[in-house]
Amino acid sequence: MTPHIEALKSDIAKTVIMPGDPMRAKFIAENYLIDCKLVNDIRGMLAYTGYYKNKLVTVMGSGMGMPSMGIYSYELFKFYDVEKIIRIGSCGAYIKDLKLYDLILVDGSYSNSTYAYMQSGCKDNVIKPSQILNNEIMKKANELNIHLEKGLIYSSDVFYKENDNYEQLVNDHNVIAVEMETFALFHNANVLNKKAAAILTVSDSLVNHEKTTSEERELNFTKMIELALESIL
Ligand code: HPA
Repeated sequence: MTPHIEALKSDIAKTVIMPGDPMRAKFIAENYLIDCKLVNDIRGMLAYTGYYKNKLVTVMGSGMGMPSMGIYSYELFKFYDVEKIIRIGSCGAYIKDLKLYDLILVDGSYSNSTYAYMQSGCKDNVIKPSQILNNEIMKKANELNIHLEKGLIYSSDVFYKENDNYEQLVNDHNVIAVEMETFALFHNANVLNKKAAAILTVSDSLVNHEKTTSEERELNFTKMIELALESIL
């Protein structure tokens, strides 16, 4: 038990899939896992552990933003001996070539957040995922005929900006999309010698202001869920 997770240590698998939304963790558990049980309900941050095919896996929400992702991923890695976390989330496109529902395998997260510096004094502002995990995900995507874009993404501390100068971030840092959690996840994995990766689905575009509805998102996120689950086998 930790301040934020009530599960017994033995109830959390070594591999965790983390959507942002805890209701999506529930959806994955109910639709893809067998012999599964609810292992956390504190603050409604639902976590379930069960089998995908013959692999024991935990699915747990991260919540929104780096502080929330930072807490849960740290506790999972440090106190539950989790080895791998794959984030599955949504992002906003920063370039016109990205279309709604495109999948991105994150090659690195750029951020101007203070998360890494406050956490350990780390001054990097681009943090990389596990290349081993990324290779496994790419291999599976090939087998399943799923197209993955690869690139750097921006992990932002702010969703609603008075003036969104995203073009500047694209120019200066070569980022293709925005979300709010991956930088903290990758940093925690690095400081704790663990593995992390992130797969994102484009849910809206800052370029042409297209948006998905929440029903459409639920349906189309299945491709990303299946890719994440298949790549941990
Ligand atoms: N901004 C930040 N995070 C996001 C977005 C966005 O436009 N879309 C999905 N996650």
